[in-house]
Amino acid sequence: MSDDPTPVAPTTVTWKPAGPLIVQGPATFFDNEGTALTPPPAKIPGQIKLCGCGRSHTKPFCDGSHKC
Ligand code: FES
Repeated sequence: MSDDPTPVAPTTVTWKPAGPLIVQGPATFFDNEGTALTPPPAKIPGQIKLCGCGRSHTKPFCDGSHKC
């Protein structure tokens, strides 16, 4: 437990039907073996998009293929 009294906004996940899950806030992503994954550079600071359509070539992250 942290002694830092600075409030931290909760991480949120927003699902876009037929598109990505948008993670806003601090998060660490791991593969099935527990290895930390490096997300691609965020277009919006603090926001990572996870593929929800299954078409991404960079799963689990969205690469924009859902737009095709
Ligand atoms: S949601 Fe964007 S590539 Fe799948």
